[in-house]
Amino acid sequence: MSEQREPVGVIGVGWVGLVTAACFAELGHPVIARDILAEKVDSLSRGEVTIHEPDLADLVRRNAERLTFTTEMSELLDGARLLFVCVDTPPTYSGDADLSRVRAVVEELPEGSEHVLIMKSTVPAGTGEAIRRDLPGLAYVSCPEFLKEGTAVADFMHPDRVVIGADPGDEGAAAAVAGLYEPLGEVLHTDVSSAEMIKLASNAFLATKISFINEIANVCEEVGADVGEVARGMGLDERIGSSFLRAGIGYGGSCFPKDVTALKMLAGNTGYHFQLLNAVIEVNELQKRRVVGKLEKHLGSLLGKRVALLGLAFKPDTDDMREASSLVLAARLQGEGAEVVAYDPVASERAGQLLDSVTLTGSALEALDGADAAVLVTEWREFAELDWADVAKRMARPLIVDGRNFLDQKALAAAGFEYEGIGKPQVAAAAAAAE
Ligand code: UGA
Repeated sequence: MSEQREPVGVIGVGWVGLVTAACFAELGHPVIARDILAEKVDSLSRGEVTIHEPDLADLVRRNAERLTFTTEMSELLDGARLLFVCVDTPPTYSGDADLSRVRAVVEELPEGSEHVLIMKSTVPAGTGEAIRRDLPGLAYVSCPEFLKEGTAVADFMHPDRVVIGADPGDEGAAAAVAGLYEPLGEVLHTDVSSAEMIKLASNAFLATKISFINEIANVCEEVGADVGEVARGMGLDERIGSSFLRAGIGYGGSCFPKDVTALKMLAGNTGYHFQLLNAVIEVNELQKRRVVGKLEKHLGSLLGKRVALLGLAFKPDTDDMREASSLVLAARLQGEGAEVVAYDPVASERAGQLLDSVTLTGSALEALDGADAAVLVTEWREFAELDWADVAKRMARPLIVDGRNFLDQKALAAAGFEYEGIGKPQVAAAAAAAE
């Protein structure tokens, strides 16, 4: 018989919460996960996972015996001492993180509770300290999550680092949390505020890297350089590193836009003006819109032109549409009078709730048929596998803006396409065909 592992409680069964619950169950812990949405709890109890995340549904099914989903806080409090808070902290109108869901959780804890509150939700630095002030005696640990959507299960199971922040008096709680992560890798112990800052600073730095390479790409276009080569050359310097230097039409998702703004606001609230982050945000906003200019360069006015968007999700292998570049792009194209058709392998349903007057098709070819231009928005693998010579014949005009530098530029030019990448020099069709 295997030894009984410490039960784990999870509060908030969104992306992070469900991955946390499923992965701790996989590691052998009994897990009780609580969400306020009865419908979600019901479907998860039946083993139905409604978000698209590789391996997650398998994990939930395989560990069904160790996973309990409930709407009842009392069940959670009775069943587990270690409670991971995974509720969302969306931006408010002011750009600050909305902590109302975190506060609601804290209010549900009984006075003198013996539980350990482990904050996985991304919160501004100082939040943990405030919660401890309000609930003296509560054991509090900050344990930010660094997983990426699309590879969430693998990231959880093989983390680059595990950060555990605790303040004096909570060393025992920190050790208990570190014990949970022992099979996964090394733990960095810090104080609570530093752990909170590590999360925000990491996301802001990654977003900065993306906006930086996007600006380099824009300059490359002016001087005839290739941003792919530039990024490769830069990345060989180990101080720079090669990851997160893919130029494109801007970052999206539920984390970078929100966390960069939240850090800017957090600094601003203390009286510090974080200038660099203003530029990071502005560059990202403008980057989404540059596609319009690229299309106009070839088509002139976009009025009445049919533009096919390939991919809508903020990145591949997810159906998450939060802050997806496609939303801004579709609106801008419509603003210029274009007819927008779009296809995404999994995000169409979510996208349909957000996109007005965009025709969603059941396949890439349907979207491309008769189009005056295509824009690759999300680098789904199936787009690389299309028969582009056939596509060229189906389109009214074989023009493509590859917003992720994902497709084979020379092959497309050889197939007769006018190809526009991001930060790529032009390849004339004749030259590509001759190669
Ligand atoms: C991001 C972080 O990478 C995670 O470490 C963090 O845990 C997570 O936010 C979070 O705070 O919860 P995620 O938003 O899932 O993860 O996705 P990423 O893979 O980081 O991509 C974010 C956006 O940046 C995407 O729109 C992607 O297309 C874009 N990107 C990424 C680029 O434009 N260029 C790159 O080189 C890399």
